[in-house]
Amino acid sequence: MAPQLLLLLLLHVLSARIATAASAEQLPDEHLLLSPRRLRRRHDITELLRTPRSHELVRQEDLPRAWDWRNATVDAGGPRNYVTPVTNMHVPAGKCGCCFAHAATAVLADRMNIKQKGSWPVTQLSIQNVIDCGNAGSCRDGGDERAVYAYGAKYGIPPETCSPFTAQDHQCNASRQCYTCWPRCAPVAAHSRLTVAEHGSVQGLDQMKAEIFLRGPISCGIDTTPGARAYTGGVYAEALSRPDPNHSVTVVGWGVEEGSGVEYWVVKNNWGEPWGERGFMRLVTSAYRGGGGGAGGEEEVGAGGGEAAGRRVHGAGGAGGVDYTLGLESDCSFAVPDRWVPASELGL
Ligand SMILES: *[C@@H]1O[C@H](CO)[C@@H](O)[C@H](O)[C@H]1NC(C)=O
Ligand SMILES: *[C@@H]1O[C@H](CO)[C@@H](O)[C@H](O)[C@H]1NC(C)=O
Ligand SMILES: *[C@@H]1O[C@H](CO)[C@@H](O)[C@H](O)[C@H]1NC(C)=O
Repeated sequence: MAPQLLLLLLLHVLSARIATAASAEQLPDEHLLLSPRRLRRRHDITELLRTPRSHELVRQEDLPRAWDWRNATVDAGGPRNYVTPVTNMHVPAGKCGCCFAHAATAVLADRMNIKQKGSWPVTQLSIQNVIDCGNAGSCRDGGDERAVYAYGAKYGIPPETCSPFTAQDHQCNASRQCYTCWPRCAPVAAHSRLTVAEHGSVQGLDQMKAEIFLRGPISCGIDTTPGARAYTGGVYAEALSRPDPNHSVTVVGWGVEEGSGVEYWVVKNNWGEPWGERGFMRLVTSAYRGGGGGAGGEEEVGAGGGEAAGRRVHGAGGAGGVDYTLGLESDCSFAVPDRWVPASELGL
């Protein structure tokens, strides 16, 4: 065998080893909250911030009355869509609690489209790679978008065509990072991955609007009540005393309903296009029925209002401690995409 060939083979085996090692750093289970198939909030993810938070840069009164990244005017080119197509976490297998991977990759892809001013190429990231190699959760146990962003900051996320969505859990290996099946199934070492420059949390109406307007869609937890699951259209509101977000979605904008003047969030779900308004939901903001305007926060409310101790409640709830937003404003996160980097430069 020629020495060059031998070296290549060696490098190949080595890179596969590194890829496996990278994903093997599992965290002990006490870092994970909640039960299987729900959102698993991790408390070991620290924010990565290099620039001021959006709400420090823009005043509420300077934000538009409505803003929708599906139809946004950012330059002379006129209104354009920057939002990636709706995905469906329930196909081709129904038992994958991977909403977190759908929501986080959607945020990054939408924001990359915004960053590129809508020009080619459209970004579509591998949800399956996040599930298999992201150490951010799994189909079986659910996960946390913030852990996906942390993965992107360290290893980047490959494009969808590296590992299409199958809605299953796999052990991470070089093939799960990127593969093709012609002339036979084998890893593709030479691929690029989208890295993350910053990521962090946002809560409440004001912070959410500022972040969405300045940098793009955000990921949020939501309580998928029976009413929300049956949603077919319109501006949705549901009175809940203690919403318990157990599903991840993205928020791509907000608007005001003609006539009623009710302000709503534009929520992009990951249950396919037949659900809701072509996969989207208009959901009231915390301003609904004289709500507090969304100071928000992950306050542990034990006293007052008869709330159960330890239950996460957002300060933004409507009058009388009632929340109409399915808990959407209590637990959001964002990430800022950086650039496409060759996998080899990321140690993969
Ligand atoms: C997009 O926004 C423009 C105004 O900027 C509006 O005239 C148009 O009707 C909108 N299109 C859709 C599909 O909502
Ligand atoms: C990676 O794991 C899959 C199973 O998920 C297996 O079919 C494949 O052969 C493995 N590939 C490599 C390169 O180890
Ligand atoms: C989320 O919680 C609601 C109750 O508010 C429940 O009906 C639904 O099944 C839960 N969904 C998941 C995925 O756990």
